[in-house]
Amino acid sequence: KRSYNITLLPGDGIGPEIISISKDVLQLAASLEGIEIKYQEMPVGGSAFDLAGVPLPEETLAAAKQSDAVLLGAIGGYKWDKLEKKLKPETGLLQLRAGLDVFANLRPATVLPQLIDCTTLKREVAEGVDLMVVRELTAGIYFGEPRGFGVNEKGEEIGFNTEVYSVSQIDRIARVAFETARKRRGKLCSVDKANVLEASMLWRKRVTDMAADYPDVELSHMYIDNAAMQLIRDPKQFDTILTNNIFGDILSDEASMISGSIGMLPSASIGQSGPGLFEPIHGSAPDIAGQDKANPLATILSAAMLLRYGLGESKAAERIEAAVMETLNRGFRTGDIYSAGNKLVGCNEMGEQVMKSVDSPIPAA
Ligand code: NAD
Ligand code: IPM
Ligand code: MN
Repeated sequence: KRSYNITLLPGDGIGPEIISISKDVLQLAASLEGIEIKYQEMPVGGSAFDLAGVPLPEETLAAAKQSDAVLLGAIGGYKWDKLEKKLKPETGLLQLRAGLDVFANLRPATVLPQLIDCTTLKREVAEGVDLMVVRELTAGIYFGEPRGFGVNEKGEEIGFNTEVYSVSQIDRIARVAFETARKRRGKLCSVDKANVLEASMLWRKRVTDMAADYPDVELSHMYIDNAAMQLIRDPKQFDTILTNNIFGDILSDEASMISGSIGMLPSASIGQSGPGLFEPIHGSAPDIAGQDKANPLATILSAAMLLRYGLGESKAAERIEAAVMETLNRGFRTGDIYSAGNKLVGCNEMGEQVMKSVDSPIPAA
């Protein structure tokens, strides 16, 4: 019997709601495939600060490192926004990503036929979009030194950050992107700001050099400003997008509205070895937290990515993905993806409906 340990990190805001129901879905799909899972729930983010005075307690990182995979809800909220930098929920999340060394963040964005009415783009522009953002996650301006607050020559207060990438940091994420593109449609677009930034110039050079190892992958380069425009103009031109930490953060939120809602997009963060971290791309949605309104599908689909990329259990992953499709086919919608004629449900009911489909999928015609 295959058996795994999973660390659950509910976090803040809608985090506990989406994790609770996603765990139930994960558990059901796993058990149907004869997989045994032990869960350990740990605090992270603002709720960890409230409990332990820090956004990433040592015990949480230790538990995450010792497990086979980590499923995270979301962190952050108004309540903690004014804390000093090192105590902020966001800092806890960054420490977790760095601590697990999960440098490759895979963020798929597809337009599902069931949700074609939810995209803000014209139908013919959005229809059939299927792209993958490969975002570098543990370096760049999020982590670069020097950083901080200070005073300039004129005695004026300043805040500063540094965008820095080393050759090894670029190469390892580029490798993941080429391998990803090779398994998809063989097209890789590297997005940077090499017309202005030195870190991007080195990035473009290393990515270009690596292309020699991948003659089957068609590589192109695009500046970030143009990429943000092209993504809205004609998203179907993209297959795999490789980009740095901050550009990937922004482009993936942009891509979510092509799909129809940020409540739909999952992600997988993986390293060279050790457990992966799986989380929706959205945040803690404080505006709807505690109201049973959140769309749990991004987290449920992240649990599917956990099974596939984190545990190599692709059959159980497929069960979840098929159940999500079936639930949408049966017309169930949370508020963020609702359109007339469908059944409006809350977070928990949406998850229950997915479980129903996992349990007894409608046989293919
Ligand atoms: P957000 O993603 O939390 O919310 C943006 C908008 O999308 C809100 O209107 C929200 O209601 C909606 N939304 C998000 N997820 C949804 C879901 N599952 N179902 C339905 N609607 C959903 O971004 P924000 O408002 O900029 O940030 C709120 C907090 O979350 C901040 O503290 C931020 O730092 C944090 N954050 C955390 C993560 C993370 O944990 N990975 C990611 C992004 C933002
Ligand atoms: C995300 C979030 C985080 C990021 C924040 C909360 C640190 O926006 O996961 O996309 O910028 O990576
Ligand atoms: Mn983000």
